[in-house]
Amino acid sequence: MLILGIESSCDETAAAVVKDGRTVLSNAISTQIPIHTLYGGVVPEIASRKHIERISQVVAEGLKEANVTLDDIDAVGVTYGPGLVGPLLVGTSFAKALAFGRDLPLIGVHHIEGHISANYIEHKDLEPPFLCLVVSGGHTHLVRVLDYGSYEILGRTVDDAAGEAFDKVARAIGLGYPGGPKIEKKAKEGNPDAIDFPRAKVSDHPFDFSFSGLKSAVLNYLNGMQMRGQKVNEADVAASFQKAVVSALVEHAMLALDTYGGSKFAIAGGVASNGAFRSAMQEACEKRGVEFLCPSPILCTDNGAMIGAAAYYDFKKGRRDGWNLNAIPNLALGER
Ligand code: KG4
Ligand code: ZN
Repeated sequence: MLILGIESSCDETAAAVVKDGRTVLSNAISTQIPIHTLYGGVVPEIASRKHIERISQVVAEGLKEANVTLDDIDAVGVTYGPGLVGPLLVGTSFAKALAFGRDLPLIGVHHIEGHISANYIEHKDLEPPFLCLVVSGGHTHLVRVLDYGSYEILGRTVDDAAGEAFDKVARAIGLGYPGGPKIEKKAKEGNPDAIDFPRAKVSDHPFDFSFSGLKSAVLNYLNGMQMRGQKVNEADVAASFQKAVVSALVEHAMLALDTYGGSKFAIAGGVASNGAFRSAMQEACEKRGVEFLCPSPILCTDNGAMIGAAAYYDFKKGRRDGWNLNAIPNLALGER
């Protein structure tokens, strides 16, 4: 079964053709990063317009790269939430028009379910149940994947998402957008033990995350140094901040493993492409004899292949959407 997966929830216009939920025949991605970099972050209105400009070509590219035509496609999967409403509307409207015109089944996909499903593409034998930590620019979710399409959220961020913290700290130390890859690069030249930034815990909710205190601690540190006329070592700040985020993420992940057990732990989302995070998780899982799974970086950041994979399992469970499928910016995981 060939599914065309379409993703446009933030700043990537993406379309992919996925066979039987696991085999990627194409993965076309048009990123808007160079435009948003000018403004230091994603500007929703500009994002919507760029999606409109690009979506037809990106879908055509996805089909061409897979060496198929629309005649070969069996269903259309599309992200309908959560995300920015304008960008989501472009993808859902396009997918609806395409599915209607071609008389194809339409499957609305939850963006986080897409990120989790990137692991099915990377690890061909992976089957639920497993634990997954989804860390992106908009989400930090610790999830028990009970079955395909069935999730229990153990914890989430109560304020900033992990990727958002990377982006805000990068901006504060003058590295620009998107912050994650830039902090990771800078951190390689710095000492992760140079500054002891706090790792916040959320009282009574051990699986929840909080990153705004850490972000404020970095800002206070920078202000303090500036007021004392001392020079800031950006590499040390980047390395120490990254260490604080990574250790909070790994601690939560290991607490979930110790509490719920299981033999497999997966990560997903843009921040999952961070090398320091991947190796810390690998090491912690190895110590417990647990298999650690992560998608390759191209499948961590937003893409259409993960949407095609998720749509396949949703389709098999009987999900079909109508022409009234709408963009839902704050869609909850597992909501129908
Ligand atoms: O999953 P994604 O592409 O979009 C959302 O769904 O949000 O994630 C983007 C986020 C951004 O905040 C970006 O700074 C972060 O992922 N990110 C990283 C890295 N690459 C991307 N964070 C840390 N280290 C990285 N190497
Ligand atoms: Zn994402």
